[in-house]
Amino acid sequence: MTTVPQLEDLGDLNGRRVLVRADFNVPLEDGVITDDLRIKSALPTIKWLVDQGASVTTCSHLGRPKGEPNPAFSMDPVRARLAELAPGVELMENLRFNPGETSNDPAFVSELINGFDAYVNDAFGASHRAHASIVGPPQHLPSAAGRLLAREVEVLGGLRTNAKRPFVAILGGAKVSDKLAVIEALLESVDSIIIGGGMAYTFLAAKGHNVGSSLLEEDMIDTAKRLLDSDATIYLPSDNFALGPGGKIGDPSAGGEVRPVGNDMSEGWMGLDIGPGSAAEFCDVILDARTVLWNGPMGVFEDPRFEAGTRTVAEAVGQTHGFTVVGGGDSAAAAKQFGVAADIDHVSTGGGASLELIEKGDLPGLAALRGEFSG
Ligand code: 3PG
Repeated sequence: MTTVPQLEDLGDLNGRRVLVRADFNVPLEDGVITDDLRIKSALPTIKWLVDQGASVTTCSHLGRPKGEPNPAFSMDPVRARLAELAPGVELMENLRFNPGETSNDPAFVSELINGFDAYVNDAFGASHRAHASIVGPPQHLPSAAGRLLAREVEVLGGLRTNAKRPFVAILGGAKVSDKLAVIEALLESVDSIIIGGGMAYTFLAAKGHNVGSSLLEEDMIDTAKRLLDSDATIYLPSDNFALGPGGKIGDPSAGGEVRPVGNDMSEGWMGLDIGPGSAAEFCDVILDARTVLWNGPMGVFEDPRFEAGTRTVAEAVGQTHGFTVVGGGDSAAAAKQFGVAADIDHVSTGGGASLELIEKGDLPGLAALRGEFSG
């Protein structure tokens, strides 16, 4: 596991001005924050710094504006929520309003750190980005990881080396190509991998099944075959819920039949959730595990017709006695929707960052804090 300087390493902060890079990239609907987990998660760091007598200014990106001011990505809603949760703590405008943020422009780094005595990175969810606010300040200011970043590194970094066995990874989501690198890395440390969601259909096709009109990445079939031929224990669905011709995902009123099917489907039928048999098999494996990592839903759980598989798996993850980690926005949302979030030992605030940390064991933001970032 990578070690990074901690808040205590910053020394006496009384009267010092500290810049905190947070990941306040929260979901918004019509300018209203729908989940403030990422703001709340930065509070332990902010409070600790304030208690030391530091004056704290936070900064973050929000969405993906194209290097220029855009009211749709204004920090105002976040600023208002932060003022309620941590009065007196300032928040800069969206870092990505300046093109120097994503290009890691040294001039933008100088602008950012101007007037500050120390820097804290608590933006785990953005630490896989070699952006100015992540990798720049540690080259100029005494720097440390905030509490959230330190905990994410301890838990996710520790999975590679310290996980209690059996260690089971549950992977879902749409695409094999998005998860391939992490699957390969996990195969080194897990006892088994459960694969569900859209990506399962490429694996089922690799086993010779006719997956009808289900999501399929033809160019990943050979890779899926190679993984299935390896020594790894990979569990795939044995049954599915599928939507028939004419149906529309997310719109039950459009019609289309929904039916439990096996792994071979007729043309026009689309597998959109694991079936009850698969869910029961997956649960047995999850309930026997001593470490569980869950990343990616088992189906299109936003559509109530296809939520059962993800719900059953979420409940099993909530119930198992093993140490449980949920990574990625979709699975965290599912854990919340199905009422098990409080039973999970660690819900990561990072999507891409959590996968990259598991895959590579390091991130640009962590290397920068160790004084080892180059590039
Ligand atoms: C995230 O939501 O995963 C982080 O905030 C990073 O956002 P980005 O993918 O736009 O860099």
